[in-house]
Amino acid sequence: MEKKWWHDAIIYQIYLRSFQDANQDGIGDLQGIIRRLDYLKSLNINTIWISPHYDSPMDDNGYDVRDFYKVSPDYGTIDDFKDVLAAAHERDMKVLVDLVLNHTSDEHPWFLAAKDPDHPEHEHYHDFYIWHDGILDKNSKKKPPTRWISWFGGPVWQYVPALDQYYLHIFSKKMPDLNWRNTTMREELKKMIAWWIELGVDGFRVDASNHLEKNWEFPDAKPGYEHFSSLPKHHEYLKELARELFIPNDLLVIGEAGGATRKEALQYAGFDSEEFNLLIQFEHCWADTDDQNVLTPGKWAKGIIDLPKIKHSFAKWIEIFKNRGYHTLYWHNHDQPRVVSHYGNDKHHHERSAKMLAYTLYLLPGIPIIYYGEEIGMTNVDYTELDQFRDVEVFTEYNNFIRNGASHNLAMQALKDRCRDNARTPMQWDPTPNGGFSAHQPWIDTNRNTKAINVTTQEKDDTSILNTYRKLLSLRKSEDIANAEVTFIDIDNPRTFFVKIAAKTHDYLVLANFKGETIHVDLPEDLTAWQLYLHNTEPHHHPQHFEPYEARIYRKAK
Ligand code: NOJ
Repeated sequence: MEKKWWHDAIIYQIYLRSFQDANQDGIGDLQGIIRRLDYLKSLNINTIWISPHYDSPMDDNGYDVRDFYKVSPDYGTIDDFKDVLAAAHERDMKVLVDLVLNHTSDEHPWFLAAKDPDHPEHEHYHDFYIWHDGILDKNSKKKPPTRWISWFGGPVWQYVPALDQYYLHIFSKKMPDLNWRNTTMREELKKMIAWWIELGVDGFRVDASNHLEKNWEFPDAKPGYEHFSSLPKHHEYLKELARELFIPNDLLVIGEAGGATRKEALQYAGFDSEEFNLLIQFEHCWADTDDQNVLTPGKWAKGIIDLPKIKHSFAKWIEIFKNRGYHTLYWHNHDQPRVVSHYGNDKHHHERSAKMLAYTLYLLPGIPIIYYGEEIGMTNVDYTELDQFRDVEVFTEYNNFIRNGASHNLAMQALKDRCRDNARTPMQWDPTPNGGFSAHQPWIDTNRNTKAINVTTQEKDDTSILNTYRKLLSLRKSEDIANAEVTFIDIDNPRTFFVKIAAKTHDYLVLANFKGETIHVDLPEDLTAWQLYLHNTEPHHHPQHFEPYEARIYRKAK
């Protein structure tokens, strides 16, 4: 395989709205990114992925695009965007942007024309979206064609009286799905993608990429995900984009395809796939659901962590891509809870468990994506009121929980444990109340723990979570960890995360207790020949003894 620029990428995801506010209006912005590029560089980041920066009514924080060619005034102007590109490129850093192709905002001019029978271009744009006349129920009353459920809860069909038709939206009702079978629509999107490439972006993260094709027979089902997710034809659309745009421009393109199967993996992101370069699939992200919980079901039901499931998932995906592509390493993004709260313990073992999570993930082969704030151990929200939340999904789901019979307190707990706002609070740069994110009241409340958890404080401490990330990411570079070999040891053990890594100049042994209790275990090797390289507790003389979340990295020269 010919070496590509992105084979040693260390990616950092910037949730633009919450990263750094430069113009003091309480919202993160593009100039804010520029201020923090040197910080990112010092972390050994060489690629940033910026979440949607496009003009949008912000029903879903920018994933509802109103104008693909315009930067949201919340974030700046196109000149600010060019400044980000220039500032990043000056520092040898690459810039990826989100590409939202499954839907637009209902305020996009295409949809305004599509839903208005009197609009001069109605005929042309109506078919850019997915419409249905509805069906008759047994009392001859019109109803939506299916009971499919949107990813944000609630029906996928929205009625438009002026047309006497329903449109499909698999996310919020302000995000109508585009009709990918319409070639004119596809040409418009390709024109837009070419425009951003021409401007100088180095790649994309393709949002909701496995949803582009739908089952146009519209069979009834509930929730019906199989009829609007991962249908074979979406691969044809992706190939069309790759052949015409992604490949000729040597971009790094990351596809989001939740639930991708082993078979699909190489189709998406194998070296010769002609679709993407990297895949995000989330298999390890909800390894702690409680299937018995009917009040706040699905991802909202927090249960016990199934550690073997996480390890098997890592092992499986690493094996799939071995010599055939690159695996993508991430604990979470803006759609899951903060990992230290989710898989670690943010109450009693904050620092230790955050480091344990870093040791266990970032010595694995593949291309890492670090989510903003992860490197200082930012935690889930500590909100007490429903109106402190901002995410569109929170409000539909809260009502669902109450309808299911959950109490307000239980519903609030589910939100605090699992909702997406957990991962969207302002970056905690310093100990001041708004965390140095903004002098203005932020668009979403800052976590109150910013005094204890912030960049400035951790910069001063050599052993902080932040400096641990720095060390690990620097090691990734010097030891070419992206291409290391990994062996999972005792993979079915529900408490330990033990791996052996063969890197460029050393072998590494990561030994971690993933649980909140002290354990005594048989060690996989005689450790006399190994040198203790990093540890997250006070060193002690009982190598078989692991305190809660204790983790150690040993190494041995090759
Ligand atoms: C996936 C994005 O990550 C999520 O934040 C968004 O709500 C949906 N796609 C819809 O665009």
